[in-house]
Amino acid sequence: MTTFEIVGDDFVLDGEPHRILSGALHYFRVHPDDWADRIRKARMMGLNTIETYVPWNAHEPVPGGWRADGRLDLERFLRTVADEGMHAIVRPGPYICAEWDNGGLPAWLFTDPEVGIRRSEPRFVAALSRYLRNVLDIVRPLQVTEGGPVLLVQVENEYGAYGDDKEYLRQLVEVIRGAGITVPLTTVDQPQDDMLENGSLPGLLKTASFGSRSRERLATLRRHQPTGPLMCSEFWDGWFDSWGTHHHTTPVAESAADLDELLALGASVNLYMFHGGTNFGFTNGANDKGVYQPIVTSYDYDAPLDESGEPTEKFWAFRDVIAKYAELPELEPVVAAAAPSFTVPFDAAVPLWAVADRLGEWSHTDELPTFDELGHYSGLGLYRTEIDTAEPAVLEFGEVRDRAYVSVGTSRLGVLARDHHDSAIALSPSRGTLTVLVEDQGRVDYGPRIGEPKGLIGPVHLNGEELRRWSVLPLQLSSIEPVRDALDGAAGAPERLAGPVFARAGFELDEPCPLFLDTTGWGKGVAWINGFNLGRYWTRGPQQTLYVPRGVLRTGANELIVLELESAAESVAAFVPEPRLGHTEV
Ligand code: GLA
Repeated sequence: MTTFEIVGDDFVLDGEPHRILSGALHYFRVHPDDWADRIRKARMMGLNTIETYVPWNAHEPVPGGWRADGRLDLERFLRTVADEGMHAIVRPGPYICAEWDNGGLPAWLFTDPEVGIRRSEPRFVAALSRYLRNVLDIVRPLQVTEGGPVLLVQVENEYGAYGDDKEYLRQLVEVIRGAGITVPLTTVDQPQDDMLENGSLPGLLKTASFGSRSRERLATLRRHQPTGPLMCSEFWDGWFDSWGTHHHTTPVAESAADLDELLALGASVNLYMFHGGTNFGFTNGANDKGVYQPIVTSYDYDAPLDESGEPTEKFWAFRDVIAKYAELPELEPVVAAAAPSFTVPFDAAVPLWAVADRLGEWSHTDELPTFDELGHYSGLGLYRTEIDTAEPAVLEFGEVRDRAYVSVGTSRLGVLARDHHDSAIALSPSRGTLTVLVEDQGRVDYGPRIGEPKGLIGPVHLNGEELRRWSVLPLQLSSIEPVRDALDGAAGAPERLAGPVFARAGFELDEPCPLFLDTTGWGKGVAWINGFNLGRYWTRGPQQTLYVPRGVLRTGANELIVLELESAAESVAAFVPEPRLGHTEV
């Protein structure tokens, strides 16, 4: 029977002091067919542990609707970690941040304004207890003491940056211990006095998050915890990108030196990230510190393994550092083949308007509802009402979350962008159906704007008169089947794509292999391959390609469907040999 405990300043595994050399890998950001490969590469770099968050909103998309299949199969992931001879750390939140939609908190929690988020408020605690019991039923038999891989479970996430409700932390611990978790529990906080103080409880191991100045940060941690193993639970070895900014990289030599400093001090570490993966579908988060900044689709993070699972220069530099402190396994050969490059024309296209009715149910209300009020928690929706103005007019919205394409009849009038703080648009005299296509570009994952509703925030005024009698259609895009049916009946594709339009291209592969879909010629939209939502693209960059995992491709015929919201000057799709994540800061 394996034992694992904290004794003095050490983790002790089966009676021996043990240093945790961990790397973050979020199962929900990586195709399951690639889990074993990525985990094996972590072992080859010298790591002995894989850490993952658990995203509540993905596992429980509607209240009580628990799912843990496919990319959400946590049990299979943890068993794969064990099969590769590694340990695991599980961080189930309930809040995870992670540049993930809403920081992992389900949007439905916020539809009742009485629910006290991240506080010891009974409704919140009841909801999170149900969630945690589901997660921990998976984790309990997989603890290291039960013969599984799990060494540690984290309570909350950087709670000291958010609140100071110790009763809430106590209740969380009660739920976790009550679910049969006996391994040590940790907390993580940024190494600041108030945060370390507010974010933890006696009996939980305090750890810190940082990516440089290791000595100083560990000294701060030590001040708040005189004994116990030193651990950096998030050693930031790269950073995330937002649309419209540059692609973030950290200098390899500096990152390696910071890691060296940390390990030389005897600390345990979790690299954030070892392999970042991808914000597939509509899963990306956003920041808003005055300007709304949605996170891009790639979560490459400039990590040791890149988005497509290839070792980078950082991988080899970190491996050299780790070699000073731990025995490394034999290297298995890593063969990286360039992805095939080819171009295919779109062969069918259908305007969104022609297929919209098949993508959901219209709701008819007098007052303007948000997406959330209609139980629609991500993606796109259509708002319609009739207008009639003989004068030039101003159409004003309370707020647009996050991007609204305004049309009257079939004429597009313009775009209102939250990141530009747009809330009004001029109309020439108009009569007919006003249609506003709205994109939720991802919920804020850090700070006070978490949980805010999406869609159009009313009321809407036309020259000062409130517009009423709305028809609203939340677009259900989790299955692309209805679009495929519409495309089957469509004539050929036009030479250019005028959005909003779905377009399809077919291509053949001799065998499945990872691909990089070049989106440079397109405006803004979403792409699916064989029904799998690869995520959003946007001419704004920095990223110019979308990663296509091998597991979604087939030998023989494959299908690409694109929803272009703006315009594409050429009606073709191109695949390129390498990722293009955009310009870096120079
Ligand atoms: C914090 C959070 C993580 C992540 C990083 C930045 O440390 O705990 O979830 O958001 O910042 O990537």
